[in-house]
Amino acid sequence: MSTIMHRAIGAPLNRLDGPQKVTGTAKYAFEHAVELHPAYVFPLQSTIANGHITGIDISAATAEPGVLAVLTHTNAPKLVPSFLTELAILQSDEVAYRGQIIGGVIAETLEIARHAASLVQVDYEEHVHDVKLRVDRDDLRPPEASEYLRTPHADVQADQRDIDAALASAAITLDATYTTAIYYHNPMEPHANIAIWTDEELTLYCGSQGVSMTQSLLAPLFGLDPQRVHVISPHVGGGFGSKALPHADMVLTVMAAQLVASRPVKLALTRQQMFSLVGYRSPTIQRIRLGANVNGQLTAIEHDAIEQSAKIMDFPENSTRSTRAMYAAPKQRTTQWLASLDVPVPTIMRGPGETPGMFALESAMDEMAIACGLDPIEFRIRNEPDVEPASGLPYSSRHLVTCLREGARRFGWDSRDSTPRARHERGWLVGTGVAASIYPMFRFPGNFATIRVSPEERYTVLIGAADIGTGTWTTLTQIAADALEVPIEHVDLQIGDSALPPASGAGGSSGTISWGSAIVEAAGKLRALLASNSSRVVPAEGLEVTGEIPNTSYQQHFAMYSFGAQFAEVWVHEQTGEVRVPRLLGMFDVGRIINPKTARSQLLGGMTMGLSMALHEQGVLDPRFGHVVNHDFAEYHIATNADVGSVEVHWLDQEDLYFNPMGAKGIGEVGIVGTAAAIANAVYHATSIRVRDLPITLDKLLPKISPG
Ligand code: MOS
Repeated sequence: MSTIMHRAIGAPLNRLDGPQKVTGTAKYAFEHAVELHPAYVFPLQSTIANGHITGIDISAATAEPGVLAVLTHTNAPKLVPSFLTELAILQSDEVAYRGQIIGGVIAETLEIARHAASLVQVDYEEHVHDVKLRVDRDDLRPPEASEYLRTPHADVQADQRDIDAALASAAITLDATYTTAIYYHNPMEPHANIAIWTDEELTLYCGSQGVSMTQSLLAPLFGLDPQRVHVISPHVGGGFGSKALPHADMVLTVMAAQLVASRPVKLALTRQQMFSLVGYRSPTIQRIRLGANVNGQLTAIEHDAIEQSAKIMDFPENSTRSTRAMYAAPKQRTTQWLASLDVPVPTIMRGPGETPGMFALESAMDEMAIACGLDPIEFRIRNEPDVEPASGLPYSSRHLVTCLREGARRFGWDSRDSTPRARHERGWLVGTGVAASIYPMFRFPGNFATIRVSPEERYTVLIGAADIGTGTWTTLTQIAADALEVPIEHVDLQIGDSALPPASGAGGSSGTISWGSAIVEAAGKLRALLASNSSRVVPAEGLEVTGEIPNTSYQQHFAMYSFGAQFAEVWVHEQTGEVRVPRLLGMFDVGRIINPKTARSQLLGGMTMGLSMALHEQGVLDPRFGHVVNHDFAEYHIATNADVGSVEVHWLDQEDLYFNPMGAKGIGEVGIVGTAAAIANAVYHATSIRVRDLPITLDKLLPKISPG
């Protein structure tokens, strides 16, 4: 693979779509102008967690002026079964979780639809439900393998006897259990769709992390050739994984559109509805056992994770994956266990697996460093591996130690007194903590980019990529300009439409790398074509080439990850237990940065989301009814401006040349990984209280905080 010149790449360009966004002309899913007066569909949701519907009385709803139809399992179109069983709504009278879509009211306005939905009477036969994840369940099982969801089987390296023996003979050991809460993506733009069903095709406006993926997963459900499904999603108000795989709201919108043929149907989920319909991150219960010798070298690492999944569809969070890539220890073992519950289907959420997994591992590393009498940075450096422990492969690049050292220098780590609860400031206990970050690099196949050049030397770059707020409109333009060796003003990018060449989704921090690689291929072809033309003149009709992401085997030869070191300063009030985080600092090893401005936003946003996870976010399940009760922004607290202090983002000036011609690594997710552990470790340093159960709320500190 050859590399490309870097001129536009590395420039801190403002977002090219910024003016459209701030003037309100950037169209989000619900805002697209459609021909014909649209109809609106409002979902009906189950009020039991397990059982079946015995009767639905829609008479009062249909009597309302303006109601067009009521969809239920008795009149809904039949769907073709899909592996995404979550999407099979209204196919029977069964109810699999509370909040499941059991119908929809279609009306002339959203208000009429919503009101009429409240008039529908549903009778159920209710069965006992099972919604509580517990460590002592007797039905825990390894996940089903699903390549599509990139969730391999529980991975066992050392067998249990070897691990037990290594731990038994270790000079220093740790055995601790960490838990994380239910988290919701909560993008600022709630999920919304417009569907238009005609004899020729289905048009769907939606918020999508990948239009090609939405097209190929939705089309077969309705027995359609993907070519007859047109997905349009030029701007997306945040995703974090909830807009990656399609969810039931899309299916309901399309079914409603089938019913009122040719007329557009709009659906906008309320914030509350999003807490049961568009996925979430599973809670986790994670046990970590570590053994070390007297020199602070790990001899054994064991990480067992328990997560929940839904009865109707398997989705494992994969919390132990990152542990297999982190530290040198001759004996390592990770396992993963799932309980299938009567709950909504979990899905990928920013740093799926790594985010809860690294809270556990990096908390345990802090505890073990203290047990070994070592500074936590020194302890990590002593356990730095030469090759990836799980695979034995060399890393394509791993500068974690440099991140730790350079981050420590910038943070002022060296002046730290390692004694916990040593620093008091005006009634506050002050502490600092550190944790490592990791996120794997993915480059997905099936990426095609087309470039057209006109005689006026304007270059149109077409690819079905997505900008979910990350900056794709800008960064892909920068990559194309450098690959074509033209100024960025000559490049017109088109993304977010399934009529464009197919592309993978904005997921797994893979977008810029995958789409950019296809664009570099296309640009190389175009330049070769122009060079072969001795007059070097573009014909009047223009020229067009298509490049495909090259099929390289680097993944088989290298372990590929982004890394980072996160530092936190925490203040805990001695009387109230209130926790404040005035300072976060992240030092990242993320390859070449395409655009420092949008990259900084990605990492800063990730760290802020990590802070939110550490201190605030938790879905509170009511086991009596089977739903999360704090399903709104009043009670599901997300860190706001007032909760966030200084967040410093830095990266090493490095490139990873094995993975893609830009030298880039993924940046969308690594920023959230490790932040919560850095904060928990700082809370321990401030207070001598180890909180292993997120979020770190004051009720977990107060009973132990007063010296007297
Ligand atoms: Mo991201 S959770 O891989 O959409």
